[in-house]
Amino acid sequence: MAQHYVSLLFLFFAFTFTCSVAKMVPAVFVFGDSLADVGNNNYLTLSIAKANFPHNGVDFPGKKPTGRFSNGRNAADFLAEKLGLPTSPPYLSLKFASNKSNAFLGGVSFASGGAGILDGTDRLFRQAISLSNQVEYYATVYATLVEQLGSVEAQKYFSKSLYAIVIGSNDILGFFKAGSDVHLKNTPQELVDSMTLMMTGYLKRLYNLGARKFVVVGIPAIGCCPSQRNQNKTGACNEESNYWCNKYNEGAKSLLQAMKTEFKDINYAFFDSYNVLLNFIQKPANYGFIEVKAACCGLGNLNAVVPCIPISHYCPKRTDHVFWDLYHPTEAAAKIFIDTIFDGSQQYVSPVNVRQLVAL
Ligand SMILES: *[C@@H]1O[C@H](CO)[C@@H](O)[C@H](O)[C@H]1NC(C)=O
Ligand SMILES: *[C@@H]1O[C@H](CO)[C@@H](O)[C@H](O)[C@H]1NC(C)=O
Repeated sequence: MAQHYVSLLFLFFAFTFTCSVAKMVPAVFVFGDSLADVGNNNYLTLSIAKANFPHNGVDFPGKKPTGRFSNGRNAADFLAEKLGLPTSPPYLSLKFASNKSNAFLGGVSFASGGAGILDGTDRLFRQAISLSNQVEYYATVYATLVEQLGSVEAQKYFSKSLYAIVIGSNDILGFFKAGSDVHLKNTPQELVDSMTLMMTGYLKRLYNLGARKFVVVGIPAIGCCPSQRNQNKTGACNEESNYWCNKYNEGAKSLLQAMKTEFKDINYAFFDSYNVLLNFIQKPANYGFIEVKAACCGLGNLNAVVPCIPISHYCPKRTDHVFWDLYHPTEAAAKIFIDTIFDGSQQYVSPVNVRQLVAL
């Protein structure tokens, strides 16, 4: 009998121990665009930024198209996995959850394909959850959890959670799109300045709603994605959009530094996805890639003339390719992004990486 109790006790401790080691933070709240969308856009009837059909998901468990713009899992999935959490569910899928605070507890994703930092960018693909709406949705989640956990517990819970923000590509893409009206009214410097200004406001609002640990992903070198290369006869990267992505990233880095000075109790990891993507393109063999220009799934020049829709072709070996479709990375590329954001050196993720951020 006594022996039974001992072994039961042992099992109990072994279990709680592995659980607490496995889960590194209470929750991840995800804000962003199609690089992180795990299904919100499936609920937006007017949006043309959708991925809930083949060949998306061809490498996802069960070969299931889920709304992820990927052949398999995306950056949000890999980040959650590293943290020992299930992927934060799409906010719009929780509308009918019977117990909302229960559904929200492990984190929620507000990311929506086609979203931008600026209101109006979401019209690029007709409908998306703009960053301003994402933050307002989070405010309702915040209120529900404060009511559930009580104010003191809730503040502890929020301050240990991660707030991952992956956005900005669509603002730049929209600006440089032929015939864009923002382009006619503003200079690219004005665009980038208003992006950083708006981002500052959203970060402060999240701070006031309990957020203390931010994971901010800079804009990748989107001038090198197949859709942009396809616009140049030589297939070269669009240097102008790359230049302004870089400019925005510099602005975002300084705004985070300034926020840290103003609010001493925040911490953040800023990820230089721009240069990590350029590394893939310049030294593909180091990362196991062979094809860095063409999309895996699509039709026409660089598989970028027709997007990844059911009639498109897709490549047999997805792990060879940096790009899954005309805009988005393959699962293989997303995995390396997250490995780097988690454990990478200060050259790519600063002032700390996500593993260090969690421990702070
Ligand atoms: C909802 O879930 C929370 C957290 O798991 C729990 O504490 C609470 O009792 C649940 N509420 C109802 C009405 O079931
Ligand atoms: C095509 O790319 C080359 C090399 O970057 C550049 O010099 C040229 O201006 C580009 N052409 C267009 C139409 O963007």
